[in-house]
Amino acid sequence: MDMLLANKIENVKENIKNWKKEGLTIGLVPTMGALHKGHMSLIKKAKETADKVVVSIFVNPIQFGPNEDFEKYPRTLESDVNICQSLGVDIIFAPAPNEMYGENTLLSNNNLTYVCPPYNVVDMLCGKSRPGHFDGVATVVLKLFNIVQPDFAFFGQKDAQQLFILKKMVKDLNINIKIIGCPIVREKDGLAISSRNIYLSEAERKKALSISQALNKIEQLYKQGISSVDILFDTAVSILDKDIDLEYLEFINYDTFIRTQKAEKNTLVAIAARVGNTRLIDNIIL
Ligand code: PAJ
Repeated sequence: MDMLLANKIENVKENIKNWKKEGLTIGLVPTMGALHKGHMSLIKKAKETADKVVVSIFVNPIQFGPNEDFEKYPRTLESDVNICQSLGVDIIFAPAPNEMYGENTLLSNNNLTYVCPPYNVVDMLCGKSRPGHFDGVATVVLKLFNIVQPDFAFFGQKDAQQLFILKKMVKDLNINIKIIGCPIVREKDGLAISSRNIYLSEAERKKALSISQALNKIEQLYKQGISSVDILFDTAVSILDKDIDLEYLEFINYDTFIRTQKAEKNTLVAIAARVGNTRLIDNIIL
């Protein structure tokens, strides 16, 4: 079957119904487009895992704050379609905002049923500076789950808090979908690949590199036996480029999502920083 580019929910559902009748398994890769090697690794994993693969491309307005880059977010549907085609994707679902939320819903927050992830997880890391962000993410992902009804859904470790929240949502709401977390894909020099990297000037790109270098240093010291979060924090901060505006560098128990003072196995070390006007995130799990 040729790849289908669908922008209507009904159109997707029709295909899914036929696949289900045939007993085929379905993998979903939710994205906001501007596809890069990180997204491609998720799609490849989905192809290995499921019989049919659906990629959604939707810049989800309800997960952007009023002063964030919703308007400016890169939209590159034509090249996204080519990438998906080359990877053997079966359906791209690329709805317009109205198709997902209706005409009036976007005018007001008061007109939509939201999924609210647990407050203690949302009120940390990226959630602190992006109020409402994870409600918007969980809501759109649940909608995509209901539309596509996948057996598997694929998310990157790059957005570790998002991955944790979505796993928790699936568990708490008894959703019968297996969430598969995929490792962070990096440029050769270590910079975590992101759709937002295109905002960086050449000079900023160089400065941004110190983010992954700081994380590497933490990992190296941890492997040498240093577990004091204070020491690891200070060393990492000293490696960050002086023009980088650090938003957070936190050590979190990745089982419980509670801050820890002692680095140990399964500690998430997560960082968010601004380089110029661009906000970047990265992390490692020890
Ligand atoms: P987006 O930023 O497009 O990312 C889509 C998926 O690609 C996410 O699961 C993200 O973690 C993963 N990803 C991005 N960069 C990656 C990298 N360098 N290595 C591995 N995986 C990477 O995340 C979103 O969209 C949205 O919040 C979404 C889940 C689609 C809901 O709107």
